Amino acid sequence: MGSNIPTSTLRSTDRTIPLLGYGTAEYPFGASIETMKESILHAIELGYRHFDSASLYQSEVPLGEAISDALRLGLIKSRDELFITSKLWCSDGHKDLVLPALQKTLENLQLEYLDLYLIHWPVSSKPGEYVLPVKEKDLLPMDFRSVWEAMEECHKLGLAKSIGVSNFSCKKLENLLATAKIPPAVNQVEISPLWQQKKIREFCEEKGIHVTAYSPLGAKGMLWGTNNVMECQVLKEIAAARGKSMAQICLRWVHEQGVSVLVKSFNKERIKQNLDIFDWKLSQEDLKRISQIPQQRAYVAAEFVSEKGPYKSVVEFWDGEI
Ligand code: A2P
Repeated sequence: MGSNIPTSTLRSTDRTIPLLGYGTAEYPFGASIETMKESILHAIELGYRHFDSASLYQSEVPLGEAISDALRLGLIKSRDELFITSKLWCSDGHKDLVLPALQKTLENLQLEYLDLYLIHWPVSSKPGEYVLPVKEKDLLPMDFRSVWEAMEECHKLGLAKSIGVSNFSCKKLENLLATAKIPPAVNQVEISPLWQQKKIREFCEEKGIHVTAYSPLGAKGMLWGTNNVMECQVLKEIAAARGKSMAQICLRWVHEQGVSVLVKSFNKERIKQNLDIFDWKLSQEDLKRISQIPQQRAYVAAEFVSEKGPYKSVVEFWDGEI
């Protein structure tokens, strides 16, 4: 089945990224591998082409198996039809561990290359552990320069067609851009009607960095999530008036901000419903009401903050963007 999902060009590498992607993070990690694999296969069948993974999520192996099955079943003709992202976990955030981490990720996925490899968080940790929260005593400052050089090496080797970051503030991006030979293609950050991220979106637009939104529905039930998005009264009223679901209103709003959006669902009906956001629009009045929703991050990343760690407060962690 063909896909009607629009794409955008990543300015730094000239490759295209589908503007709606499928998220694979479910907490606790590794709890529903079979369901995840079946859901991914179903998503490919329905037309999703962009899949977001991370070494932390334990979703690389099921994603790789679903891709093999999709090829075997003829749902796609070639792996090149897909856009596959994965992320470097904090414990591999050390210059000599980046390439081996990517090689392990590719082995898990049974792939020869990633479309996008991201630094998951702007923090390193003691090597060897793949857990969230990172133990407080294991938190370490990231040497951005050398870790980014290792990411650039991954790109040069052809193992990651594009490289980027996640959860970086404007200040951290500015610092990275000051020394990067290859600028980050993407910054993946939390965006929803309750955390609209105007500042970072404008900054990235100016610098040619594509923005991808995670937790557009607030990631209800996850360690990093909140019920507030799916319980927001304004969104409920707009959904009722338009005959759309709350999720569709959120996804459509994020899409209209000119970024790509990732949504996770392991439910067949909802996987289908989440695709149905491209042939209708929010009205000016809807947009105005959404712009007035009080803002609150779902995930403040308190787990990355410690008296003895690299960031002493959440304000420091986000460089005031909180
Ligand atoms: P489920 O997998 O049972 O569908 P986010 O993408 O913001 O991280 O949110 C993901 C959460 O939202 C998951 O718990 C997912 O649950 C749920 N979800 C995904 N799509 C929908 C939808 N269309 N309506 C309601 N909940 C949804």
